[in-house]
Amino acid sequence: MIVVTGANGQLGKLVIKDLLARSPGQKIVAMVRSPEKASDLASLGVEIRMGNYDRPETLEPAMRGAKKVLLISSSAIGHRLPQHRAAIEAATRAGVGALVYTSLLHADRSPLNLAEEHFATETLIRDSGIPYIFLRNGWYVENYGGFIPSALEHGALIGCAGNGRISWAARADYAAAAAVVLTRESPLNVIHELAGDTGHTLSEFAEELSRQSGKQVRYVNMEKKAYIAALLGAGLPKPLADLLGDSDAGAAGGGLFDEGRELSRLIGRPTVSLKAAVSALLGT
Ligand SMILES: NC(=O)c1ccc[n+]([C@@H]2O[C@H](COP(=O)([O-])OP(=O)(O)OC[C@H]3O[C@@H](n4cnc5c(N)ncnc54)[C@H](OP(=O)(O)O)[C@@H]3O)[C@@H](O)[C@H]2O)c1
Repeated sequence: MIVVTGANGQLGKLVIKDLLARSPGQKIVAMVRSPEKASDLASLGVEIRMGNYDRPETLEPAMRGAKKVLLISSSAIGHRLPQHRAAIEAATRAGVGALVYTSLLHADRSPLNLAEEHFATETLIRDSGIPYIFLRNGWYVENYGGFIPSALEHGALIGCAGNGRISWAARADYAAAAAVVLTRESPLNVIHELAGDTGHTLSEFAEELSRQSGKQVRYVNMEKKAYIAALLGAGLPKPLADLLGDSDAGAAGGGLFDEGRELSRLIGRPTVSLKAAVSALLGT
């Protein structure tokens, strides 16, 4: 039996659909914070169990009987470590066979602030003694979706990633990788550095956006401080603006680049191309 946490989220839903396609008949449990929002998953034949990282007493029952648990990192950035600790302790008590954790690309050496909670979670998992698989996921190309309307309106995609190449992939690519390691007899206590096949600069992204939209969009590189100020000016909350500024600055130094192609080897197909990703983001 496989348990997927955070299953109402965008990645979780994709993983569950992929699991069902790969392994019909496999018992799958969707652990969700709000079962009333999981009727679509229930209609697929998945068992729904309530589990909230902030309510540790809910977690062990949600994981009971699992051969493997996919622990999808919480979206509560800055507050995740106690949440993940509660999930790992519950997994230990429930006697789960293995924990698969969605970490961050190069979490042990990444310059991104985001890496800290991920690497600390990896350390807790290793220390727990539960066999593990770390899926160190790179950037989602979908992260750029929210920037497209203003880029098209103003003819400018802003950022502070310089000429850093970013090896993004689609959520669906990362979801497929999770489904693969959850369903096959995978080696345990391993780390997968997962990223798109080809790294692209934000200038290349803007060029592709121009080509497909028919509107001229150029990439405007800014100082990190100015970029964060621009995001705040556009109404983004400070923690998110800081996170995006920090992540772009990390990307400028190669922090989101990887050329190992482990993701496409794992899923048995190329990761999403720049052309297909931009087309999907434009809804064309
Ligand atoms: N690599 C990247 O570029 C990138 C980008 C974005 C996110 N991420 C990470 O990847 C994770 C999955 O991404 P996603 O796109 O699926 O994010 P998402 O759509 O925001 O889903 C996050 C899920 O976590 C659940 N959650 C939040 N707090 C919880 C709690 N206290 N207890 C139980 N569940 C809780 C949410 O539940 P509700 O549905 O009840 O709100 C939601 O279903 C994120 O959480 C984040 O850690 C990575």
